[in-house]
Amino acid sequence: MASRSDRSRTKTPPVGDRISSVLQESRSFTPATSFSARAHVSSAKALAALRRQADADPVAFWQERARELVWFRDWKRALVWKHPHAQWFVGGTTNASMNCLDRHLGGWRRTKAALIWEGEPGDVRTLTYQQLHAEVCKAANALLHLGVKAGDVVAIYMGMVPEAVIAMLACARIGATHNVIFGGFSSEAVRERINDSKAVVLITQDGAYRRGQTVELKTAADEAVRRCPTIRHQLVLRRTQQPVKMKRGRDHWWHELVDGASSINEPAQLPSEHPLFILYTSGSTGKPKGILHTTGGYLTQVAYTCKMVFDLRDDDVYFCTADVGWITGHSYIVYGPLLNGATVMIYEGTPNHPQPDRFWDIIERHAVSIFYTAPTAIRSFMKWGEAWPAKHDLSSLRLLGTVGEPINPEAWMWYHEVIGRGRCPIVDTWWQTETGAIMISPLPGASTTRPGTATVPLPGIQADVVRKDGTSCAANEGGLLVVKHPWPSMLRTIYGNDERYRAAYWSEFPKRRGHPGWYFTGDGARRDEHGNIWIIGRVDDVVNVSGHRLGTAEIESALVSHARVAEAAVVARPDEVKGNALVAFVTLKASATPTPALAEELRAHVAREIGPIAKPDEIRFTEMLPKTRSGKIMRRLLREIVTSGVATGDVTTLEDAGVLERLRAGEEE
Ligand code: PRX
Repeated sequence: MASRSDRSRTKTPPVGDRISSVLQESRSFTPATSFSARAHVSSAKALAALRRQADADPVAFWQERARELVWFRDWKRALVWKHPHAQWFVGGTTNASMNCLDRHLGGWRRTKAALIWEGEPGDVRTLTYQQLHAEVCKAANALLHLGVKAGDVVAIYMGMVPEAVIAMLACARIGATHNVIFGGFSSEAVRERINDSKAVVLITQDGAYRRGQTVELKTAADEAVRRCPTIRHQLVLRRTQQPVKMKRGRDHWWHELVDGASSINEPAQLPSEHPLFILYTSGSTGKPKGILHTTGGYLTQVAYTCKMVFDLRDDDVYFCTADVGWITGHSYIVYGPLLNGATVMIYEGTPNHPQPDRFWDIIERHAVSIFYTAPTAIRSFMKWGEAWPAKHDLSSLRLLGTVGEPINPEAWMWYHEVIGRGRCPIVDTWWQTETGAIMISPLPGASTTRPGTATVPLPGIQADVVRKDGTSCAANEGGLLVVKHPWPSMLRTIYGNDERYRAAYWSEFPKRRGHPGWYFTGDGARRDEHGNIWIIGRVDDVVNVSGHRLGTAEIESALVSHARVAEAAVVARPDEVKGNALVAFVTLKASATPTPALAEELRAHVAREIGPIAKPDEIRFTEMLPKTRSGKIMRRLLREIVTSGVATGDVTTLEDAGVLERLRAGEEE
């Protein structure tokens, strides 16, 4: 199969009217004057001025942004940087829930829609800022009633329902740290994330609607909690009405506890560095990393980037298709838009239920003006065909965004033409769970965009592409993407494992005499002659599947936990829709025989251990894996085999050269 970049080179995509060149790499788009005229940053000149100001004094720049939040007490020091630990707005006290809700209640936004939610079956609920505030206060009081205190961790394992947002904001209100666990994860994954974070309460729901079916969340939660000694209570939302077991004394219905609670709750006055949430993400080795984010700096950067990158205005209806279980959901469904007093569209289900035009139908019916999704979704839309969006009036759209992985130019052009109808700027936003907020992105009223690049770092962000020795790469030379100066929404540590935090992000370019120490993103990239950054992909053993980061080590250990598996190595091969597909090379224990049924069983086993997103697309049984003389699996060779069919790279460190022959032969069978 041709790689994605090959395809985008060989097929000429449709061209729009504002394309200045038809050459693939130099197609560029400047914002329409009508867009720029109303934008927060309305010209390249204005953006350059902002960047100069930020570069001259990044800390002063961010202080100015922080003043746009409401603080109970002002900070004394804007940044305390003790490498590799940053503290922002030290001495200041604030509250995330108060900033998202209470501050909007004094004026006309009180009756503005905060959330417009559409359930998969078609039910719609709208919550104004005032109503959302009341619900959050009630939920906060319910959590207090369950004995939750500031500093406690509360796990949230829910689908895309308004109560997931309410639960997050209720935690933030009382100073509990939320740990949202994606509703698609298995009970094993839930258990691991609860135990690592020592959560005291789990908020979940009976079941969730997904593709016309129901998913049993409470059953999975019960299964997980059986081995979670720290969990004292479960708070259970009724959504699907499916029968569930409620354990007396431990489990409480949301509609009994929350609905009956008082809607008056004073937000806790919390230090700027109070932990707001932990969110688990995959690493290249071992178990998932609990990325810890705190309050003041995180809110400052998500509020600012949400406003600028999406050019948010009060009359927008903003629709981000992510799940709250991922960082995009945290920063750009919940905190960013609500801090800005925006109207947020939330959809519960899958994009192809009941038909592949569900998103376009939602955009038309709710007059969505800003749409933010992932390249993998765009590639699915392309596959389903133009006829689906063509059936709908998408004229309310004015801005499109993407996130999660590099977008192939062909998909960018399709998005631009078929969804944006050639009118809407596209913001390709690069960031990570760890960065908390957008770092590299165009500003839609000011930047010239090019299909496939997130362009340049935002003002206030100092990112660069460097060689291993730390020198900056020349134009178009591949290197490592680093961030050179602390930023407000950066992760503070890996929860409970500061050593791992240092090793994962700060050891590639360590602090030493004459060098300040840089944050390494794990991404490879190049800068083109215009300074635009093109992400090449991960340089570690982390793969990006459907816009979700998966650690191959995690999938390998899930495979090895199966009784018949001796060893496993997981690599990615390019896939048209998912970005990457997972191929697992598996060696079996002597007693086991490789059969298609066993391959299926192993795939199901991984889905059970981690979740369906981690399920290998292909299992290849092999008698041996290529290893170095020191016994390390040479995944690089496996990657070459699955992508091009041959391993062409350096094989001198390979212990048994015959292994490659056998692996290739296996592929042709
Ligand atoms: O490799 C980059 C890719 O996704 C990684 C971060 O994944 P995660 O923490 O799950 O967060 C995803 C949502 C923010 C990055 O290291 N990535 C994210 N956005 C882009 C991207 N790659 C290219 N272009 C992007 N716009």
